Order: sequence, then structure tokens, then C-alpha cells
Amino acid sequence: MTKLHIGLGVTGGIAAYKAIEVMRLLQKAGCEVSVAMTRHATEFVRPLTFRALTDRHVIVDDYDPANPDPIAHINFSQEIDLLLIVPATANIISKFANGIADDFLSSTYLASTAPVLIAPAMNVTMWEQAATQRNIERLRADGVRFVDPVAGELACKTVGTGKLEDVENIVSQVLNLLDAETQRRRGGRETSLRLSVSALKDDLTKEHILITVGGTREAIDPVRFISNHSSGKMGFAVAVAARERGARVTVVAASTSVEPPDGVELIRSISAQEMFDAVMEKVADATVFIGAAAVADYSPANVADAKIKKEGIDGISLELKKTPDILSEVSKRRREGQMVIGFAAETNDVIEFAKSKMAKKNLDMVIANDITAKGAGFNTDTNIATILTRQRETALGLMSKRALADKILDEIVNLRKSNPANAARSGNS
Ligand code: CTP
Repeated sequence: MTKLHIGLGVTGGIAAYKAIEVMRLLQKAGCEVSVAMTRHATEFVRPLTFRALTDRHVIVDDYDPANPDPIAHINFSQEIDLLLIVPATANIISKFANGIADDFLSSTYLASTAPVLIAPAMNVTMWEQAATQRNIERLRADGVRFVDPVAGELACKTVGTGKLEDVENIVSQVLNLLDAETQRRRGGRETSLRLSVSALKDDLTKEHILITVGGTREAIDPVRFISNHSSGKMGFAVAVAARERGARVTVVAASTSVEPPDGVELIRSISAQEMFDAVMEKVADATVFIGAAAVADYSPANVADAKIKKEGIDGISLELKKTPDILSEVSKRRREGQMVIGFAAETNDVIEFAKSKMAKKNLDMVIANDITAKGAGFNTDTNIATILTRQRETALGLMSKRALADKILDEIVNLRKSNPANAARSGNS
């Protein structure tokens, strides 16, 4: 798996020390981080701090004899998947906007084709200055993204906008951007990245998550079956993400076309009925149930004991009977504190159908997606979904199934925090 490489540029401001925290979180998320500092930044934080924590030379000056690479700004700029500036002064923003390359960091900006994310921090007057705002507009037009500073008490004791955004929010935006970029530039190649800031904390250690995955197969005879296109990628992505966040995970998997993850309890159940039985056996112990499987709604009423022969038969009709609805049954039997979550894969009126499923099946959360949208649906590595809870609706853009998995888990954590009693209604209310 590929490690993503961040070029972290640190410029001269009081908030420079916060770049250390940003770097640590990015490393925890699985990124490689190389640091470049401006000369003024070294007045606030010593390069040694970054060198010790990254085990890499920190570049301040291309011409420094201690620099192991004679054309560092070119090599550095080609190696990185993202150039991140924390904190960015008005000066570096101005240099980037005007194509000035008079030090290592500004030369790197010019020499790089990687996406750029800038988190400015400065005095409010400098921030609001027409020249700064003009430079920012110009950079935005060039495709540079910003994590805007927030209002608060600034280092200069004035109050206003100019404070560096919260470190976790910066990292969260970096991870979202990296995920989108990896899908675009690397054709969805899997990375070892943990894609949510809360995923960096073991925030699910108290949960036992039971997940159904894959597409069920309903036998017609010993050779043939009725099934669907489900690959199991989405359900397995949730399983991996939950395991990494400390949850105990049990997966009940029907037919899948990808390898199941390690570190989870795996139960194979091929038909809807087998899946129903396996889930009912395990669910009492689970704190969260997630129905990610594409369960057949109908199965052949009579399964032939021997292979059906075509000789002398021009047409055939199959009588189908309804399968048990696993998700509804789990919801009916739910016990205090148990969360029940479903998926709604639709082709039209996505949100409406998802809402009615949430009400009909009495769910805490529904992940709705339009399987006809490009980049969403079966057998892709990406999805475009809306997460619905009783409280809110969050429409998410194109992202990897792994990133969506972490968003779903984030929402579980939010539900637990916001109203544990409500998030885990008991009985069939
Ligand atoms: N589900 C289930 N058992 C079934 C059918 C569906 O557990 N027999 C779960 C799926 O895992 C998914 C959700 O229910 O989480 C999807 O419901 P779906 O079958 O699509 O919705 P229905 O309410 O049955 O409506 P329709 O099939 O008409 O869309």
C-alpha cells in the first residue's frame, strides 16, 4: 500500500509551534511528512524538533552545505502528494501569489504540481489588508485551497480574525483533500491512510459492531442461484475502520468478491435465511448493528433437489417467497443502548426512500446512495452518499468507501455523545 507524502511548509509566526501537532496527527494518520521552514520560522521553532520527529533533514535553505540534496526544491516538490503550509504568513501568501521564488519554500511552491492547502495565521489588520485578500483571491483562482483563520484573541492581544484554525480541523481538511486527490490522481489505489481525525483516536473501544456484508445467493437448484452485484467492499471497509478505532467487529458475510479483512470475526452465510439465523445468534451481544449486505428480498419458494434440465422445457417460471427482513427484525428486537443502522441503495428519489426506510424500520441512521451516479454503487472503490440520522442529513461528495466508513463511524460517535438514550431507543417505538 502506498504511503502519502506531505510537504509541510512552516513559516514565521507565533502559531509555528502548532505545526508540530499537525505533523504528529498526519503521521498518526499514516502520512509521510517532510518539513520545510522559512528562515523566520526557525526563530519560533527549531528545525531540530521537526528533524527528530520526522527523521528527515529539515530544509530551510537550498544552499546550506548541510543540505543532503543539491536540487532539493525540485526533488522535494516532485515527491509530495500535497503541499501544506501551517502557519502561513501574509508574506509567504504574497510570494506564492506573485510567483516570487527567493527561498526554498517559495521555490518549492513554483516547482510543484501537487495540490496546495494553506492555513494562514496573522494579525487581524494584516489579514484584512486589501493586499492580503487580493493575494488570497488570486491563489484561490489558481486552485489553491485555504483553511481560513478563525476569530479569537490573537498573539498580539487584539481580538479578530487571524487565529490559526484548530489543528484537528486542519488535519481533517488535509485528509479529505488527500482522499479526493488519491481517487483522482492514483485511480483509487488503496492507501494506508486513516481518513478521519477521530479515527486517530481509539474512540470505539466500547462498541461491538455487527455488520452484514455482500450479496446473498438464493438457490434455485444445486447449481443456480439468484443474486446481485454486491462486492462487499463497503461493508468490509466499515469493518476495517471500526477495528482500527478499537471496536470488536463481527462480520456476517454472504457472497463477496474481495478478501475479508483480518482481525474481525467472520461468519459466512450465503442465503438471506442463513444470514438471518447468523445475525439473530450474534446480535444480542452487539452494541451496533449495521446492515450493509444486499439481501435478496425474495428467494425461490421451492429449491429443486437435482439440477433442473432444459430438455423439453421451453419456458420456466419461478415462484418466489419473501425473505426475512434482517434489519427490521434486529430493530424490533433491539435492546437498550443498541444502535441499528441500514443502507438504502436507490436509483431514484434517494432521500425520500431513505427517510421512509428510517421511519419504517425504526433506524438510528441510514446511509443513502444513488447507485446510478458515477463513482457510487456496486463494485467501485468509491461512493457518494448522504448520511441521515433523526437529527440531521449530511450530504457527502465522492470519496473512497474507506473514507465513507469513517464518516459513518464518526456519526455513531456523535450520536452516542449527543444523546445516548435517544441514539439507543429500546423496543419497537
Ligand atoms: N435488509 C435486510 N434484510 C432484507 C432486506 C434488506 O437486512 N431481507 C437491509 C439491507 O442490508 C439494507 C436495508 O435493509 O441495510 C435496505 O433495505 P431494502 O431492502 O433496500 O429496502 P426495503 O425497505 O426492503 O425496500 P426496497 O427493497 O423496496 O427498496
